[in-house]
Amino acid sequence: MLTLYQAEWCPFSSAVREVLTELGVDFVTRQVEPWPEERRELQALAGTDQIPVLQAEDGRLYRGTREIFAHLRELEPWQFAAEHRRRFTDHRDARESDTQGQLVEYFRASETFEDVVGHPAEAAVVDVPEASRSELRASAKGPLLVSGGVRVVAADGTVLYEGEKAALCRCGGSANKPFCDGTHKTIDFEG
Ligand code: FES
Repeated sequence: MLTLYQAEWCPFSSAVREVLTELGVDFVTRQVEPWPEERRELQALAGTDQIPVLQAEDGRLYRGTREIFAHLRELEPWQFAAEHRRRFTDHRDARESDTQGQLVEYFRASETFEDVVGHPAEAAVVDVPEASRSELRASAKGPLLVSGGVRVVAADGTVLYEGEKAALCRCGGSANKPFCDGTHKTIDFEG
């Protein structure tokens, strides 16, 4: 049976799973560690720490969606391929409205996340309880503008800012991350 090294949150892995569904191919999923540098088993097997990786029944390895799709194109789709594709399209609204994410949050109930150390560009801005909705707007060649009530919290739990709106650095050049300090104007940031 095919083995797919993947993670649920990875959109490339998700795309491969959809194609395997449309092909009617059974497969085993192997979960990988969240960060590439932690994936020693995958690195030893496939010589890469990137996902997805597909291992065929004959042991051959296909790394990344480009290689995997090229291999899967050689297979004959099964009789239900078109119907599965249609249902994939039918469920686009649910995917775009993040039904999966809401269900996962519901499952987790009161569980709290550990602090995560990451780059400001990876930061997620969430509603504070007393606000109904926040808006994130990317300004042209400038920061990410957040309005509607925002609390910016550092990895160690320190509240860096709390207020109605904030400008977060998108260019990566700010000396006051995660906030914009205007550096984007001096480096001709295009984004
Ligand atoms: S977007 Fe303003 S300093 Fe980065």
